[in-house]
Order: sequence, then structure tokens, then C-alpha cells
Amino acid sequence: MLQLTPMVHLPNINPNLPLDLRRATIKDVPKIYDLVKYWADKGRMLERSHALLESTIHEFLILENNQGELAGCVGLHRMAEDLAEVRGLAIHPSFQGKGLGRWLVLGTERFARDLGLKRLFAWTYEQRFFEKCGFQRIPREVETLPSEIHAECTRCQFQTNCQEIPMLKILERPKLAVA
Ligand SMILES: CC(C)(COP(=O)(O)OP(=O)(O)OC[C@H]1O[C@@H](n2cnc3c(N)ncnc32)[C@H](O)[C@@H]1OP(=O)(O)O)[C@@H](O)C(=O)NCCC(=O)NCCS
Repeated sequence: MLQLTPMVHLPNINPNLPLDLRRATIKDVPKIYDLVKYWADKGRMLERSHALLESTIHEFLILENNQGELAGCVGLHRMAEDLAEVRGLAIHPSFQGKGLGRWLVLGTERFARDLGLKRLFAWTYEQRFFEKCGFQRIPREVETLPSEIHAECTRCQFQTNCQEIPMLKILERPKLAVA
């Protein structure tokens, strides 16, 4: 018998409550799973299983309100000495268009700088959004990027017809203020 996977329906979150940015823990996996699946079901991003999230949860930052409700998440996956990929970026639909997506990407940027990384990479359908975050579109095959940038393609249904756009941001050294 044909089994249809039920779409995830996210509960509403009160957008007026204050939000905190923090590292994710294993207890956050079910909420991150639901938010990512919500957008994956709409074809906006790649789904991430509970098992995959559990094994990579140390890579995730989340935004939550003081009721513990998830407003957004993002992962930073290191793939070379100086390079990491922004993965699993998702904002709850009640919070879109409030600058939180950019806040999360900037959060990964700070995280990346702290790790001494120099380049941030992303696959996305949201070219304009990533441009607003300082990324630039790059060719699909770039000699200076490792083949690992295609690692997640093996779990994607659009392997042979991929419309996702590769984007890169070079992290400049922060300017020091001189008193
Ligand atoms: C894409 C997404 C992360 C953007 O987050 P957001 O919080 O709504 O975006 P922000 O409010 O931080 O937007 C920052 C800037 O990008 C622009 N922007 C955001 N989404 C955009 C879009 N789809 N098209 C064009 N511009 C966009 C905003 O207008 C804003 O520009 P401004 O500074 O000139 O005002 C969010 O809509 C989302 O989770 N989408 C579904 C999942 C997804 O696509 N994830 C990305 C996978 S790589």
C-alpha cells in the first residue's frame, strides 16, 4: 500500500518574545528535525534525519525564545583546514523577514573565525539572501575547493538535475580599533 509521509506542521511561535542564540544540544534534535523537514517538504532544503542531526549536533547554533521554542537553526561543517560549509539554515515561518537568517549566518561566521577559518561555503536556492550576507556566487567546480563540497549530493534526489547555487564568502580579518 502507498504510504505518504505526513508533512510537518509547525506550531506558531510568539514573535514578540526575546530570542537567544546558543549552541545546540542533543535535546534540540527533534525541534531542529521538524523545522528542517518543514522546509525540506517544500523543496527549499535538504532533509536531515534524526541520526544525522545527532551525529552533527555540535555543529549547530539555534535561536530560541524564553519558552524554549525554536525560531531558527544553522550548522557549520568544517571541510578543510581553512573552509567550512553553512548547512541546515532554517528560520521558522513566523520569524522570516526579521533579519534572523542573517543573524544566524553571521553567528556561524563568528564561530568560523574563532576556529581560524578563512572561507565559508554554502549551497542554496536563496542566492539573494546569501549575497546580502556577503557571499558571492561561484562556479560549480572550483579547483581551490575540496571535493567534499559535493558530499551531501549523494543524499539528494536532484543529484543529476541540481539547481542549488554554490556560494562563497572570504572571511577578512576583523579590523582592530585603535584608541
Ligand atoms: C532563506 C532564509 C534563511 C532567510 O531568512 P530570513 O530571516 O527570512 O532573512 P533575513 O530577514 O535575515 O534577510 C536578510 C536580507 O536578505 C533578504 N532576503 C531574505 N530572503 C530573501 C529571498 N528569499 N529573496 C531575496 N532576498 C531575501 C532580506 O530582504 C534582507 O535584505 P535587507 O537587508 O536588504 O533587508 C529563510 O527564509 C528560510 O529559512 N527559508 C527556508 C529554508 C531555506 O531556504 N534555507 C536556506 C537553505 S541554504
